[in-house]
Amino acid sequence: MIRVGVVGYGTIGQIHCDALGNVPGCELAVVADLDPARRTQAQKDFGVEVANDIEEMLQTTDVDLVDICVPTYLHEQVMVKAMEANKHIFCEKPLARTLEEGRRLVNLSAGYSQKIGIGHVVRFTPAYMGIRQSVEQGEIGQAGVVRTFRGGSQFPEGWQDWFANFDLSGGVILDLAIHDLDLCRWLFGDVQRVYAKTSRGRTTAHLEHAMIVLRFKSGVIAHVEGSWTNFKGEFYTTMEVAGTNGLISYDSRTTNPIITMAVPEESMQVGAVAANPYVLELQDIVQAIGDDRPPLVSVQDAFGTLQVALAALESTRTGQVIEL
Ligand SMILES: NC(=O)c1ccc[n+]([C@@H]2O[C@H](COP(=O)([O-])OP(=O)(O)OC[C@H]3O[C@@H](n4cnc5c(N)ncnc54)[C@H](O)[C@@H]3O)[C@@H](O)[C@H]2O)c1
Repeated sequence: MIRVGVVGYGTIGQIHCDALGNVPGCELAVVADLDPARRTQAQKDFGVEVANDIEEMLQTTDVDLVDICVPTYLHEQVMVKAMEANKHIFCEKPLARTLEEGRRLVNLSAGYSQKIGIGHVVRFTPAYMGIRQSVEQGEIGQAGVVRTFRGGSQFPEGWQDWFANFDLSGGVILDLAIHDLDLCRWLFGDVQRVYAKTSRGRTTAHLEHAMIVLRFKSGVIAHVEGSWTNFKGEFYTTMEVAGTNGLISYDSRTTNPIITMAVPEESMQVGAVAANPYVLELQDIVQAIGDDRPPLVSVQDAFGTLQVALAALESTRTGQVIEL
């Protein structure tokens, strides 16, 4: 039985703790959080041991897998501590806040003997898995143009409002739109150039909208939109992939599973069963440990996505197209 220690019991830490209950072969052993109220809550919710931080957690409790759910700017330092203790690691996306932090983690992980998986959860989302399968099977011919949107809900409430501090969170591009940047990389491969615009700096930090244009080495062009501009709205995502023979169209509010329309008039639904992607991503790391295989999203792979997101940020700052 793999004993898991979750570090950070905020929005996503709580979701992971719930999800772990549905992952065979593991058990939640301990939750660490700096906030005493969160520790009390974790004890009440799961009846597990609690600790202040990763140091105390590693001193007091025997864990095999450290699940890192602290704010983005702390990912590197917590991951390094887990590596020093030679633990298996699962870390929330994005890999890190900066390129330097990401690069250090890539270097450290290169010779690391334990497993490290990164939480790019879109790759575990059945609807997107279905889209990928459709594209790979050539159901729409050669993919050419992609449009995605992610948003619709209110600004995320974080510990000490860290999402509103660009230096800590990287804003809507690094926190939210990165899901679709990762998705597009997973579907269409390496990115060649990036151009991006954001409303950041023109309104409050709690109101940010970003548009990113990507050109892939494969020739695919994508327009990715991420938004923190809705108040108490319904969170939703959309994706369209236009190809030479048809269109894949997905809207999380109305279509699940995905509608695939082949040209000229054929229309069909491809399978996307209801499954919790947070359970699936944690199941992947637990199985990777048991089977001694790499997890689906490696540090190196997540670094590739981080590079694209940070190139988009660079483009918003300079107004230039960034070549990767
Ligand atoms: N994959 C997803 O769908 C998804 C969704 C939300 C957040 N995230 C990612 O998860 C991470 C956390 O986001 P969140 O929304 O849960 O943030 P949050 O602010 O809700 O929670 C962070 C928690 O970490 C605790 N904390 C802070 N520093 C700590 C430390 N040194 N040791 C122990 N605990 C500490 C805080 O007290 C808080 O409870 C971010 O990187 C974010 O990008 C991913």
